[in-house]
Order: sequence, then C-alpha cells, then structure tokens
Amino acid sequence: MRTLVILNQKGGVGKTSTTVNLGAGLARQKQRVLLLDLDPQAHLTYSLGIMAHELPRTMGAVLTGECALADVARRVGDLDVVPASVALAGTEVELAGVGNRETRLKAALEGVEGYDFCLMDCPPNLGLLSLNALVAGTELLVPVQPEFLALQSLGKLMETVGAIRSGWNPHLALAGIVLTRFQRQKKLNREIQRNIRDYFKGDLLETSIRDNISLAEAPSFGQDIFTYKPRSNGAADYRNLALEVLRRGRPHE
Ligand SMILES: Nc1ncnc2c1ncn2[C@@H]1O[C@H](COP(=O)(O)OP(=O)(O)OP(=O)(O)O)[C@@H](O)[C@H]1O
Ligand SMILES: [Mg+2]
Repeated sequence: MRTLVILNQKGGVGKTSTTVNLGAGLARQKQRVLLLDLDPQAHLTYSLGIMAHELPRTMGAVLTGECALADVARRVGDLDVVPASVALAGTEVELAGVGNRETRLKAALEGVEGYDFCLMDCPPNLGLLSLNALVAGTELLVPVQPEFLALQSLGKLMETVGAIRSGWNPHLALAGIVLTRFQRQKKLNREIQRNIRDYFKGDLLETSIRDNISLAEAPSFGQDIFTYKPRSNGAADYRNLALEVLRRGRPHE
C-alpha cells in the first residue's frame, strides 16, 4: 500500500480537493483506495456527502484506540472513507497528554490490507494530527497554490519533514509538489511555478490543477469531480494527476 500524506500547513491550498479527487481518479484506474480525514473541519467527510455529526464513531475514536479503522470506514462509491468530525479537535488536545501520541495512526494502519493507496487529508497546521500522518505515511504530496508566500510555507514544511525523517519516519519520501488553482494567464502564477521548478526540479509534478469552478462546486453536491462534471478541466487535471502518480511509482527515500 502506498500511503500519501496530503499536507501543506497553509490553509485553503487544495489539500482536501486533492485528496478527494486524486483518490477518485486513482479508483477510476482500478486502484483500491482508502481516504482518511484527519482534519477537525471534516471537509473531506462533508465533501463526500457523509454526515459526520450523525455517526457514533469517527477518526477520533480510532486515534484514541477505542476502535479499529475498519470499524469506522464507510463505502462512498468506489472509495472507502474514514470520516472525521469536529470532535477530532478535542481528541487532539486529549492525545497531547498521553503516551505514543505521535504513533497512534501508524498503529491503527498496521494490519490494514486490501488497498493500493491510502490518502490522508491533513489540517492546515503542523500539529499532532499532521504529525501522526507524517509518522504513518510513506509519501508526502504537497498541494501549493502559486500565490504570494507559497515558497515560504514550502520551506517551513520541508524543514519539518527533514526533522521527521531523521527521527520518527526515515522512510518518508516526497511524492511531489502539485500546483493547484493554477491560472496560467496570471504572471505571478507563472513566476512562482518557475521558482518552485528551479528549486524543487523534478519534485514539481508535471500536472498542474487549473482553477476550475466545477472543483469548487462539486463538494456541495457531495460528489467527486468525475461524478459531478466528468468533462470539466478539473476532471481532466485530476485524471492526469492520478496517472502521473501511478507512472512515477513510489518515490526514492
Ligand atoms: N482547482 C480549483 N479551482 C477552483 N476552486 C478550487 C480548486 N481547488 C480547490 N478549490 C476550492 O478552494 C477552496 C479551498 O480548497 P480546499 O478545501 O481543497 O483546500 P484545503 O487546503 O483543504 O483547505 P484547508 O486548509 O482549510 O483544509 C474550496 O472552496 C475548494 O472548493
Ligand atoms: Mg482541507
């Protein structure tokens, strides 16, 4: 199983959209996909039409060890999803005071079988929930919106990843950086694309996700982009991203 952490501590850069639509894109390539919502905002959960507040147990119960991932996972189309709810914020606080707090998710994923990919949607910070993902994951995928300060937050993220690699998780590799909400007609977008390519070279993925209104609309229908608007630019871009992730294979550590 390839375990991808979808993380950027900057908010609103397309982490959740990428988790949902890359996941759905991979599923359309006959991959068996598990999605994990690690964000107390529960946007991934709601984006897929799951009413988290009606569920007795969600991701928080997995992290505290009350139940197994498989007990909480739900089938949505051809994806399996472990939902989150706002209660996850409380769980994060609770975990801060207990042992093995950084390895809870890693432990929960041990023995999980039958998937080709596990994608983890992280909150927009480098707190304990993101840390659990970085410790459990094998690959990091970073969505970046090519706007002011994009490079600064990338620098900070890479620093954190370096620390994780030399401690908790030496196997964590960079799957790549993907530009989101890309607008080629904007000079600033092209400039930032060039800067990121100069610095990160081949780690900047060839596929960019264009700014596309259908991608912004799909979550309110509880649908991924392929279901909502299969002929949109958003569907084309996330299909290409799925193909690129498959083609590149597991990155070197
Ligand atoms: N390519 C795109 N084109 C247009 N709108 C987009 C695109 N990608 C994401 N959006 C919209 O931008 C907003 C932020 O995207 P998203 O929720 O995926 O970001 P995020 O990084 O997960 O945010 P947060 O940090 O709050 O978790 C959402 O309203 C989403 O629908
Ligand atoms: Mg999000």
